[in-house]
Amino acid sequence: MTLRRRALLAGGAAAGLGAVAACSATPSSPEGERPAVVPASFTDIGTGIVPFHGPRQAGVTTEPPAHAAFLSFTLSKGTDRAALGRMLRLLTDDAARLTRGEPALGDTEAELAVHPSRLTVTFGFGPGLYRAAGLKSPVTDLPPFTVDRLEDRWNGGDLLLQICADDALTVTHAQRMLIKDARPFGAIRWVQRGFRRSAGVHPAGFTQRNVLGQLDGTANPRDAAMDTAVWNPDGSTSLVVRRIRAEIETWDLLSVGDKENAVGRRMGSGAPLSGTAEFDEPDFTKLDDTGLPVMPDFSHVARARQTDPRLKILRRPYNYDEAPDAQGRPDSGLVFAAYQADIDRQFLPIQRRLAEKDLLNEWTTPIGSAVFAIPPGCAEGGWIGEPVLA
Ligand code: HEM
Repeated sequence: MTLRRRALLAGGAAAGLGAVAACSATPSSPEGERPAVVPASFTDIGTGIVPFHGPRQAGVTTEPPAHAAFLSFTLSKGTDRAALGRMLRLLTDDAARLTRGEPALGDTEAELAVHPSRLTVTFGFGPGLYRAAGLKSPVTDLPPFTVDRLEDRWNGGDLLLQICADDALTVTHAQRMLIKDARPFGAIRWVQRGFRRSAGVHPAGFTQRNVLGQLDGTANPRDAAMDTAVWNPDGSTSLVVRRIRAEIETWDLLSVGDKENAVGRRMGSGAPLSGTAEFDEPDFTKLDDTGLPVMPDFSHVARARQTDPRLKILRRPYNYDEAPDAQGRPDSGLVFAAYQADIDRQFLPIQRRLAEKDLLNEWTTPIGSAVFAIPPGCAEGGWIGEPVLA
């Protein structure tokens, strides 16, 4: 053990101790002095494969990989039902190959395809795609909310490709291949890139932290509850994508206690203010010494809570963090992605309650909004959208 490593361990940086001990130190780095710490188990992250084919599309209830790109397209005039079929056959073929770690047909950088890193490509159809095909759309744009400050550059879209993987270069490559094949049928409307903690930073299933520092995802439906809340019997679901700016500058001025009251949970443990551990059920009837609810009724959790498991939504947000402005003010927030079987019954009532009253609104601003139907998955030889468009 080098002196430096021993000093670090002896210093006992309490939080980092376990992680350091779990890694193996290689003899020394090229500079000679600083030991390179290489975690032994990270080497297989490039090889992970999420099956593309199946009755439901991957990338919805799949444990979210670290990187995501949400691509929204506006269809070109003349992209009718037959052209949509041609486009979706092509894109399905690309997605099936790339998610297996194989190059797409005509792949110009085939060597970039060899690390699938749990790549998923999820197809979403906006209201405009159904219009172009002469069909009735199962989803409609959200109504305006008083909290919205929407910018058209982040709104809407006819086709969505949600690309996720544990490696940013894998996402970039898949994005490039898919855009190449989509280009004859439509133009890019917006691209939103996001990230979560890298694979291996936490054990699987650990709740991620968002850019505001909160544990985000605790009360998501799980297992059987997830099944009924998210999926329709035919294997379809729906997606709401909201770009929500985090007002980091003013959030940073708050005390920890104020941040906790805004959400109703502890910043450190994620426990509800009425409990002690992350997965304790919040008790909205518990009062403090002054007779006020321990879980403030204006807190995000109190307002967003949905007790009927069939009406919950699956939140699968990614953080974004673009370049700060010249004064160093951050451009950060969430690409907030929510999946549910039925937007009207599940997402809308929650969003209405939050728009009406939610202390967290002071530090979060929706600047983009889009809705997509997520059609069922397909079997090998089939294509995404076939039951709808063929
Ligand atoms: C930037 C915006 C947002 C941030 C930072 C945020 C953050 C959080 C946090 C920290 C929690 C508590 C932990 C958890 O259960 O995950 C939470 C819970 C929740 N949020 Fe949000 N949220 C945001 C926007 C939204 C939006 C737009 C909706 C839906 C319209 C929503 C719906 C929910 C729901 C349903 C819960 C679970 C409530 C419960 O049953 O306990 N959130 N959110």
